Amino acid sequence: MIVILDFGSQYTRLICKSVRRLGVAAEIYPYNAIAEQLPLSSAKGIILSGSPSSASGSASYKPDRKIFSAGVPVLGICYGMQIMAALLNGKVEKGEISEFGSAELKVLKRGRLFSGLPRRFGVWMSHYDRVVSLPSGFETLAETESVPIAAMGNSARRFYGVQFHPEVFHTRSGGKILGNFVFGICRAEKNWNLGRWAEEKINEIRRRVRGEKIIMALSGGVDSSVAAVLISRAAGKFFYPVFIDHGLTRRSDITKIREILIKKMGLNVRILRRRKVFLKALAGVRSPERKRKIIGRLFVRQFAAQAERIGGVRFLAQGTLYPDVIESASAGTSAHRIKTHHNVGGLPKNMKFELLEPVKFLFKDEVRKVGEILGIPKEIIGQHPFPGPGLAVRIIGAVTDRKINIVRTADEIIEDVLKRKGLYGKLWQAFAVLLPVKSVGVMGDARSYENAVVLRFVKSKDAMTADWAKIPYAAISEISTRIVNEVDGVNRVVYDITNKPPATIEWE
Ligand code: XMP
Repeated sequence: MIVILDFGSQYTRLICKSVRRLGVAAEIYPYNAIAEQLPLSSAKGIILSGSPSSASGSASYKPDRKIFSAGVPVLGICYGMQIMAALLNGKVEKGEISEFGSAELKVLKRGRLFSGLPRRFGVWMSHYDRVVSLPSGFETLAETESVPIAAMGNSARRFYGVQFHPEVFHTRSGGKILGNFVFGICRAEKNWNLGRWAEEKINEIRRRVRGEKIIMALSGGVDSSVAAVLISRAAGKFFYPVFIDHGLTRRSDITKIREILIKKMGLNVRILRRRKVFLKALAGVRSPERKRKIIGRLFVRQFAAQAERIGGVRFLAQGTLYPDVIESASAGTSAHRIKTHHNVGGLPKNMKFELLEPVKFLFKDEVRKVGEILGIPKEIIGQHPFPGPGLAVRIIGAVTDRKINIVRTADEIIEDVLKRKGLYGKLWQAFAVLLPVKSVGVMGDARSYENAVVLRFVKSKDAMTADWAKIPYAAISEISTRIVNEVDGVNRVVYDITNKPPATIEWE
């Protein structure tokens, strides 16, 4: 396995994905993990990520120095190279000019790191600081026009550093360089295979739960469905997935649970119909945060009651993904509470469960692949994400049955058109938001005075940032015409052209 120490770079996940794409297991750890917390005995190599911090200042993020005496190869990328140089008695200085964008790398010595690569190729740079004096035992392997030490290496100790970013797409030879490190230098084996991963995960869960009961709040989304199928294969009848229908779902959600997860995948899902309870509690509530809190609290209450009813439950399963884990552990993240996200974390104090999070070390695209391997149909694994509080956060203002119906029908039209035009899979999310705004229109010969609907279509990799989607006008036009014609109570459709940030994906 390759251990990646995360110094807070936006590219750390890409390093992890790139190594896994080469077929080698990789895991991300916080930069300040002490050596004893790292799996150094099974690690074939360590990669130090980039960072927004500066290695030339005193406040820099430092890894445990013991990683340099573990006998394991180390590759420092950007800040990772600088901090390695600084800790091994080299010298790092603030550059006079920062360097962002592509540069031409001139290889001075190929060695094992640049083996099989041309003498010159394009790389992606993004830094202020630079190594100005090599640590002892190192030599310069490459330079660029403005950076004399753009790559360094100590082949005896198997320590390497690159000032550029091999993990980003713009460094075309980046995969080859990481491959040289992982296979040529670390001698890692190709052992990362999601089919095998799934088999081992099922066995691991089986060993861990051993006939004890497991409960899970299933949402029917990609992550919770894949997690549920893994657990169900390991624990069979001891697994109790629960779907709490808060009445704020899309029309197809319950059908998918019934037809696919229960009938086809054999999950023993209990569907709790609680629409009335939720809508009653939400009556007249306009504030987005209050809506979220009410739904969250009720959800937990219903879930806890169900756990009581089942009795003797030891494990709580969740579809937590790797980005959620990295986000909360990473360097320098000061996550402000933008929205109260909906989960079952707030269970009553007397209910203590052990957490079971089978897909915790996977990225979304990997979870989708595991789902495919497990035979979960595309209707589930190809789905767009859907927020826990459901349509309540897509109805601006108070929630009513009539408004839920409007958003539901508009959503169906959107999905239908996008799927027919082959656009659905290209978008991260595409949905309708109902505004509490009326405008004048003309339908036939009559004046209308009805609500407006917003189309929110975005592209994203992980929901942390998102771009509004530039989809063909013909598709937006067809969706708009159909919504106005087919959805009672809507006479105007507008398109949201705001990115995240500064906006969020959902409107509430
Ligand atoms: P925002 O609106 O914060 O959304 O840009 C980011 C992503 O999260 C989804 N979302 C939620 N997912 N529970 C969830 O499980 C929630 O409470 C929740 N709120 C937003 C949203 O759909 C988007 O994909």
